[in-house]
Order: sequence, then C-alpha cells, then structure tokens
Amino acid sequence: MTIDILYLIAAVCFIFALRGLSSPQSAFYGNCCGIAGIVLSCVATYIFLDISGIIFTLVAMAIGAGIGIYIAGKVSMTALPQMVAGFHSLVGLAAVLVAFAAYFAPGLFHLIGAYGICKFSLIEMGLGSAIGAITFSGAVVAFLKLEGLYKGTAIPAYANALLLSLLMCMLTYFVATNSATAFVILTIFSFLFGITLIAPIGGADMPVIVSMLNSYSGWAAAGIGFTLHSDLLIITGAIVGTSGAILGYIMCKSMNRSLLNVILAGGQCGAQASANALSKSKAYKNGSAEDIAFLLKNAESVIIVPGYGMATSQAQHALKEMSAILKKEGIKIRYAIHPVAGRMPGHMNVLLAEANVPYEDVCELDEINRDFASCDVAYVIGANDVTNPAAKHDTSSSIYGMQILEVEKAKAVVFLKRSMGTGYAGVDNELFYAPNTMMLLGDAKKTTEEVIKELQNVV
Ligand code: TAP
Repeated sequence: MTIDILYLIAAVCFIFALRGLSSPQSAFYGNCCGIAGIVLSCVATYIFLDISGIIFTLVAMAIGAGIGIYIAGKVSMTALPQMVAGFHSLVGLAAVLVAFAAYFAPGLFHLIGAYGICKFSLIEMGLGSAIGAITFSGAVVAFLKLEGLYKGTAIPAYANALLLSLLMCMLTYFVATNSATAFVILTIFSFLFGITLIAPIGGADMPVIVSMLNSYSGWAAAGIGFTLHSDLLIITGAIVGTSGAILGYIMCKSMNRSLLNVILAGGQCGAQASANALSKSKAYKNGSAEDIAFLLKNAESVIIVPGYGMATSQAQHALKEMSAILKKEGIKIRYAIHPVAGRMPGHMNVLLAEANVPYEDVCELDEINRDFASCDVAYVIGANDVTNPAAKHDTSSSIYGMQILEVEKAKAVVFLKRSMGTGYAGVDNELFYAPNTMMLLGDAKKTTEEVIKELQNVV
C-alpha cells in the first residue's frame, strides 16, 4: 500500500515535470520534479519490493548513468535529435527483452495461471514486443538519417500496409495458440516494419517521426508495465506516449498536415531533387554587411528569423549583440520562431535563451506572422524551409501545406547563409530571387559580426 502511494506521488512529479518543461522559464523546475519522481520511484522499489540481485542492478544502473552523463556532456546542440532517437531505440529494445523474459520465464513474473499464461498476458507481451521492436528499429533508422549516414529508400505505402496486416495476423495467431514460433516471427516482422515505416520518410517530416517514436517508446514502456504489474510504469509510459503523440499532432498542425499524410508521403522520398536545378540559373541580389547595416539602422521594426544555420554557426550571441545595438537606437526587435525551425522541437528557443535573449522578444509563429506585413526588415539567419512560400502554392513540393513564417511580406528580406543551396527538405527557395530580397553569403556568425562592425561605425 505504502509503495502504491509513493508511486502515485512519483507519477504526479512526472506530470509536474511535463508542465514545467512546457516553458523555458519553468524548465529548470520541471527537470527537478522529474528527477525527484525518478529518485522516489527507485528508492521505493528498492525498499518495499523484494528484489534479488540488487548489487547487479545497482552496478548496471551506475554503468548506464555513466554512459548517459558522458554522451550528454559530449553531444553538440545540433546532434540532440540523433541522441533522442538513439535513446528511444533503447526503450524499445528494453520492451522487447522484458516481453521475451516474461514469455520464456513466466513463473518469475507470476504470469502462470491454472491454464498456463492467460490470454491477457499474451496480448500484453505480444503488443509490448511488437511496439518495442518497431520503436527500436525505427529509432535506429531515424538516428542514421539524422546523422546523415543513410539517405532513405522509397517504399510504397501498400508494402507497409501489407506488412502491417501480416503483423496483425501473427499477433492474433500468437494470442490464440500461444506459439513460441509465432512470438518470434511477430517480433521479427515488427523489427522489419520499424525499418520500412521510417526508411521512406524524409526531409521536412523527420521531426514528426522523432516525436512519434517518442510516443511509441512510451506505449512500449506502458506495455512492459502491464507485464510487470507496475502501475508506475503504466502511468509513466502513458504520459510519454500521449505527450509524444500530442507533440506530433502540434507539429502536423503547424505543417497543415495529418499524421497519416506524413507517413504516406514517405513513399515520395527523393522525388524532388529536380527542383534544385532551378537555383543555378536565376539572378539574385548579393549584398554586403554595409548594405544590411544600412537597411537595419533605417528600420523602425526588425523581425529576426533564426533557423538551423544559426545553430551550426553558433551565431546567437552575435545576434543578441546586434539586437542590443539596434534597440539602443529605438528600433523594435523581435524573434520569430517556427515550430520546426532547426533540428529539434524548441531548438531555437534553447539557443536564444543561452544567449540571454529576453523571453518577451521571442514570438511563436501564430503570434507574429501577421506582423511581417508591417515590418521593415526580416533578418533571416540560417533559416530556409520555414520561410519558403512554395509551401503555400507548389502542390508538387514536399513541403506543400507546411505553415511558414511569411517573411516575404516584409518591406525588405535579408538572408544570411553560406550559398544559394537548399535546406533540410532539399527544396529551392523562390524568395532568394525576389526583388525585395538581399543575400548576405557566408557563415552566419561571421557575417553578423561584420554587420555589427558596420553598425558600430554608422550609429
Ligand atoms: P533549413 O531549411 O534546413 O535551412 C538551414 C539553412 O541554413 C540552409 O539552407 C543552409 O544554407 C544554412 N546554413 C547552414 N549552416 C550555416 C552556417 N554556418 N551559416 C549560415 N547559414 C548556414 O532550416 P530551417 O529553416 O530551420 O528549417 C528546418 C528544417 O529541418 C525543416 O525542413 C524541418 O522540417 C527540418 N527538421 C526539423 C526538425 C525539428 S524538430 N525542428 C528536426 C529534423 C528536421 P547554406 O548551406 O547555403 O549555408
């Protein structure tokens, strides 16, 4: 009974953790709540449950924690999505291993009834193993793609539908017959399905997939919770499962797409490289740091649009310095954040917070989009796809339907990037060639520092 109450308190801690993590101001307290929940649940488990091999478990936990701390300390900001995908894969693998342990040693898990393993337990094990295997192989493929080690393969949607049907049949057969062979085949099909589900998905849809895998890993953990009769694991798994699904939904909404559409669009992977050829022949306006400084100092309102390039060049501190100079001159400065800018949810917010950009200057897409029409300069730094108007009118484009930051409505648009190349989705941006656009080519941090130098000379 005491342990149930402690588990309930831990579950409430996890809910507060999620609440805290929903805003940068409260994220620290959110993390503290999460840590408190985990410590409480571990301590309660060791004190109140009869755990054999506790030394072995503690050693395993210490090794895991050591590896986690090492990876977290070493990983760069831009590689966080890969790391998250890698960690999801481990949750999936854990679910498969627990399901196998429970199936082949049911006595240890108190799963044997008068007629052997009961049907409910078979359903839990089958689902836990299947979802875990899909999460594991899907997350590994997502990791390889985000790391740039694998480009993806076009797999027709009907092939995936066929594999899913086979998987469902095998699950039903396993539950009906309690066949060990069916259990193994079900798991192998699930590993395969994870690969074929994620392999064709590319470009702009990866963030949704990472969030979906997050959701799957939660459901896999909840599945293990049923097998182990652990209410805490069921609650925690369900929290992770639903929060991942809600994040995926929010991302789909900001891309004006449905989840089904994101998954099915994967079959078109690699179909649009031809669009890039366009960029070679078109004329564009190449500006200098001096030109941009002139535009900025004559503006009343400037909206800065950061993207992945700001993260790779680490230009956030220079950007903050530039904003401070302009603010001193009475120019209104705001930052517009697209929900999928960069390579992970909240990527831009984290970097701007690191540079101490005031939270009140940072606006989400919905609150700032209508202000571009009245702004003098849109300063687009290392962003591309999230500003591309093709998303609004080019039905053949892979980013069609995605909501964008409407920078094209500003009186002048400045793009800071290294070349005329494309962004993550591989789609040419027609805005580079618009009459009110000026390109400032080079590393975003270096060019912003040059702009600062020019501003210091003239203001
Ligand atoms: P992108 O469309 O990828 O564009 C980034 C631009 O930054 C590139 O065009 C690149 O052009 C430029 N760049 C790279 N390094 C630079 C540097 N050192 N200095 C200056 N510019 C540099 O980025 P975005 O607009 O932020 O859009 C994000 C994209 O990533 C979306 O398609 C989104 O769906 C996808 N994605 C997002 C996430 C999440 S969760 N946010 C996860 C995975 C994928 P040059 O090479 O010419 O410099």
